Amino acid sequence: MSISALEQQIRDALSKVPYPGFSRDIISFGVVHGITIGENIAVQLVVATNDTGVATELRDRVSKALEGLAEDRRVSVLIDVQAPVQSAGQAPVPISGVKHVIAVASGKGGVGKSMVAVNLASALASSGLMVGLCDCDLYGPSVAMMCGARERPVADQEGNILPVVRHGLRIMSMGLLLEDDSPAVLRGPMVTRYTQQFLRNVVWGELDVLLLDLPPGTGDIQLTIVQTVPLAGAVIVTTPQEVALIDARKAVAMFGKTNVSILGIIENMAYFIAPGDGSRHEIFGNGGGKKEAETLGVPFLGSIPLDPEIRIASDAGTPFVLHQPSLQASQEIQRIAKLLIPSLMKG
Ligand SMILES: Nc1ncnc2c1ncn2[C@@H]1O[C@H](COP(=O)(O)OP(=O)(O)OP(=O)(O)O)[C@@H](O)[C@H]1O
Ligand SMILES: [Mg+2]
Repeated sequence: MSISALEQQIRDALSKVPYPGFSRDIISFGVVHGITIGENIAVQLVVATNDTGVATELRDRVSKALEGLAEDRRVSVLIDVQAPVQSAGQAPVPISGVKHVIAVASGKGGVGKSMVAVNLASALASSGLMVGLCDCDLYGPSVAMMCGARERPVADQEGNILPVVRHGLRIMSMGLLLEDDSPAVLRGPMVTRYTQQFLRNVVWGELDVLLLDLPPGTGDIQLTIVQTVPLAGAVIVTTPQEVALIDARKAVAMFGKTNVSILGIIENMAYFIAPGDGSRHEIFGNGGGKKEAETLGVPFLGSIPLDPEIRIASDAGTPFVLHQPSLQASQEIQRIAKLLIPSLMKG
C-alpha cells in the first residue's frame, strides 16, 4: 500500500475516535497535528486540558484504532498536553457586559432542561438580577414557546440582533427566527456559526447572568460553547432512572474535560404526589440524582416533582415559578436559585 493511501486509512480510523468526554472525533476536534509514516508510524496530538487522564485515554484509543492498520510498523502516539489558556486564539472570550454564563445541560433528552432553564432564569430575574436566556438548542428550540414569546427579534444598525424581552428575561431562540414550525436544517459548520452568533451577535447588554439552554448530549453545540465563552459552570438536569444517570455522567465528564465546573445536579420528575390521597410515588426510582451527585463528588441542588401543572404552564408559555409560586416545584426552583445567587452577585 502506498504511504498516502495508508495515511488516508489512518485519518479515516482517527476520524472515528471520539475525544474523551465528547461525541466529536479527534480529527474534527483539531487535536491531530501530524501523522508521520516511515519505518514506524507516529501520530502527534496536541491537547489543551488540565485533566491528565485525557492523554492516557487518548493514547489507548488511538493505539486501539490503529491496530491492524500498521502491519509491521510500530505505532507511537506523541501527545503534547498544554494548559488550556495556552491555546491562543481558541481561548474562550467573555461576552462584554455579561458577568456570568451558566449552561443548563443533560446527557439524555427530554429530562426537563428547558423547563429548568426557563424557570430558573425567571426565579433569578424575580430576585432582581439582570438575566438573559439563550436557547442553544438549534434543532429543538423550546424556550420561545415555554416563555410565550412570539415576536420576531429585530437587528440594530450594526446588524446585531436585539433579544426579545419576556417575563423580565432577555431571550434569544431559534424558535423566534424560524417560520412557524419549520425545522432548522443545519449542517455542522452552520451549527457552529449560529451558536457563536447567538452568543456574540446578540445585544445581551449588561447581564448578571446568561443562562444557556443546551440541547441534550455532548455534540458540536456544546463543544462550540465551551470554546467560545468562559462558563461560570454547568447545571446538570437528570431524571432518577439509570438510563438518564448514565448520560448525566457523560455530560459531567464532558464539562470536566474542558475544565468547566459543575454547579450541581438537579433531579427532575423525582416523584409524583397523587392528587387524591397525597401519597408519594417515585415513578422513575428513588434518589438516583442525589446518589449520582455523591458518587461524582458534585453538589446536589434539589429534586423537582413530576407535576401536570409544569407541563401545562410550559405549553402555555408562563413560567410556573412566577405564576404558581405555591407549587412544590416553584419553591424548589426558588431555593435552587438562592443557592446560586451568592456566586452570581460577585464579579
Ligand atoms: N417535572 C415535570 N413535570 C411534568 N412535566 C414536565 C416536568 N419536567 C418537564 N416536563 C415536561 O416534559 C417535557 C420535556 O421537558 P423539557 O422540554 O424541559 O426537556 P428537555 O430536557 O429540555 O428536552 P430536550 O432534550 O428535547 O431539549 C415538556 O413538555 C415539559 O413541560
Ligand atoms: Mg430542551
